[in-house]
Amino acid sequence: MSRTTRFLQACRREPTDCTPVWIMRQAGRYLAEYRELRAQHGFLELCKTPELAATVTLMPIERFPVDAAILFADILLVLEPMGVGLEFAKGDGPVIHRPVRTRADVDALARVPAAEALGYVLETVRLVRARLAGRVPLIGFAGAPFTLASYVIEGGGSRQYRHTKTLMYSDQAAWHRLMERLSETVVDYVRAQVAAGAQAFQLFDSWVGCLGPDDYRAYVLPHMRATFAALADTGVPAIHFGTGTAALLELMRAAGGDVIGLDWHVDLADAWARVGHDVAVQGNLDPVALFAPPDEIRRRVARILERAGGRPGHVFNLGHGVLPETPLEHVATVIDTVHELSRRS
Ligand code: CP3
Repeated sequence: MSRTTRFLQACRREPTDCTPVWIMRQAGRYLAEYRELRAQHGFLELCKTPELAATVTLMPIERFPVDAAILFADILLVLEPMGVGLEFAKGDGPVIHRPVRTRADVDALARVPAAEALGYVLETVRLVRARLAGRVPLIGFAGAPFTLASYVIEGGGSRQYRHTKTLMYSDQAAWHRLMERLSETVVDYVRAQVAAGAQAFQLFDSWVGCLGPDDYRAYVLPHMRATFAALADTGVPAIHFGTGTAALLELMRAAGGDVIGLDWHVDLADAWARVGHDVAVQGNLDPVALFAPPDEIRRRVARILERAGGRPGHVFNLGHGVLPETPLEHVATVIDTVHELSRRS
């Protein structure tokens, strides 16, 4: 067994020769070769030029022995064809120029099939598969409806999610309509990625941890369940990722996914017992631990592997994306240590 199959087998909870590892945001700014390319092209331009997006997707594969590639794109790309005005402003992160705040705004969102609006992403998937030539599997992805809704309603990133929760609590019909629209969009987009060659997909519900369990149950869970159910017949593993979700793990598990993402606020063994050993888990090293000296990094990786207990169905990852300032040698230390300490044959 090798890099070709380890990740997909772990997602299916089959035994592997060692624990597979990939790194969220592995195709990004901590890589000098990314920063160099980025100096010549805008972020959206990189995403929209399949040749360049494929090159960036492969950068971490050429550099590190990671067990999967993740498509270089962004969760917010699906919002642009809906007509809300997406921009990645210098230094400010993403901006949505026409935020959605009312039922009328929700109804005005445009519907364009992914094959038409996001053909450039699908072309990137095809190019990457050809260039990978089976070395490692390719993970596609999309934002989950709640996290997308938070950007579309707030008009960008947020700390308090005031506008998002205001809509949720004051106009439930508009909220559910928006979540349905986003769910349909995500389903169509992920299906198109799989048809183009994505071999697994991750739904990023990065900010859902801002909700308590009652709100998750009422306002998010039905839409996540519908989204995963509509993607079940793609036949590829689904990863359900969130952060700050210690209070939501059982509900996320109930919503769906073959692999549940865990961040560093939870103990991996406790969290796995809570979601059930009939599902795989992914995580859960603190991205900031990569700033520790190598011996401390190795100690922390060993501790996570110990908590996974050699049980089939653990995909090693960080609990959230790798930070832009992370030393490259420390990323290599994580990957090598995972492989060395977990080797079973
Ligand atoms: O390597 C990979 O993981 C693949 C590519 C990828 C990017 N964004 C590239 C990117 C993936 C999977 C994403 C997902 C994404 N995008 C999420 C969910 C993941 C998470 O971290 O929770 C979110 C919330 C976004 C939205 C987004 N995109 C923000 C908030 C920002 C600006 C903040 C930041 O980190 O710069 C982006 C920009 C972005 N997406 C960059 C990259 C490499 C940096 C752009 C640049 O080069 O300037």
